[in-house]
Amino acid sequence: PLVTTTEMFKKAYDGGYAIGAFNVNNMEIVQGITEAAKEVNAPLILQVSKGARAYANHTYLIKLVEAAIEETGLPICLHLDHGDSFELCKSCIDGGFTSVMIDASSKPFAENIEITRKVVEYAHDHGVVVEAELGALAGVEDEVNVSAEDSHYTRPEEVEEFVSKTGCDSLAIAIGTSHGAYKFTAAQCTRNEKGELVPPPLRFDILDEIVKRLPGFPIVLHGSSSVPQEFVRMINENGGKMPDAVGIPEEQLRQAARGAVCKINIDSDLRLAMTGTIRQFFNEHPEKFDPREYLKPARANIKELVKHKLINVLGCDGKA
Ligand code: G3H
Ligand code: 13P
Ligand code: ZN
Ligand code: NA
Repeated sequence: PLVTTTEMFKKAYDGGYAIGAFNVNNMEIVQGITEAAKEVNAPLILQVSKGARAYANHTYLIKLVEAAIEETGLPICLHLDHGDSFELCKSCIDGGFTSVMIDASSKPFAENIEITRKVVEYAHDHGVVVEAELGALAGVEDEVNVSAEDSHYTRPEEVEEFVSKTGCDSLAIAIGTSHGAYKFTAAQCTRNEKGELVPPPLRFDILDEIVKRLPGFPIVLHGSSSVPQEFVRMINENGGKMPDAVGIPEEQLRQAARGAVCKINIDSDLRLAMTGTIRQFFNEHPEKFDPREYLKPARANIKELVKHKLINVLGCDGKA
């Protein structure tokens, strides 16, 4: 069934795991993710950005998710990712989403509270839950590009007031994750024996401070792709150019999932799997032109990637 995150987060918090929130933009992505979840019996959040909605159209996305629910029988939450206005959130609430994010984290604290509270009021009246954000992640999301200098960690001393004044149902925080495939510059990283970039560790000390002030409250991590180097190599070896792409090490996400983090957002890894697979296919079969022939292995690799995340990173397999 189409569900909210209320039950999912309660069980995830108590069970020491996290729900995967994967971005969807077309049929093959929806199928790859949901077939993986079905195989390992995992609850799911499928999320749609403003850009995804502009690309694929609200109705198509709703129907794709409904089809996935019918095919899998899984509890799936349909969530608006990075809603940037009350109007966009309202449109998704009215249009059948079960969860919305209002991201006013770039606004001053008081303004963030005000707009978030307005969205919460409307959403709760309609049985929909709300994710809000405090702190600013570096990286690119939709049209917003937050430079590393403008990014800042969540201030733990603000979280209680924010949650109690807004009534939000979950809170996205900034503890060092970042959007996109280039989460850190080479200068911010060290290198391992293989010469691969090793990013600075997430700020678990800040997370601990937040959890002390919000015991039992579901925390969300954005920008949590790990940027698998096998797919970066596949892209680079087949005509692509993604030098120094780097993500969050999976072990740190596992650690977050064991604690208060109940939702972990992954988009870039799906893009890398899809693009790497298609680039390789084109390189190896320059004579082929039937989209099904390259979308099929792309979908299969998304499925394998998601299965790996559900079992080895999020720990939500068997929890549907
Ligand atoms: O946080 C951003 C997500 O990866 C969605 O990206 O706005 O390009 O659809 P998008
Ligand atoms: P990634 O770019 O790390 O996949 O983050 C996705 C995200 O946070 C979507 O909201
Ligand atoms: Zn995000
Ligand atoms: Na958790």
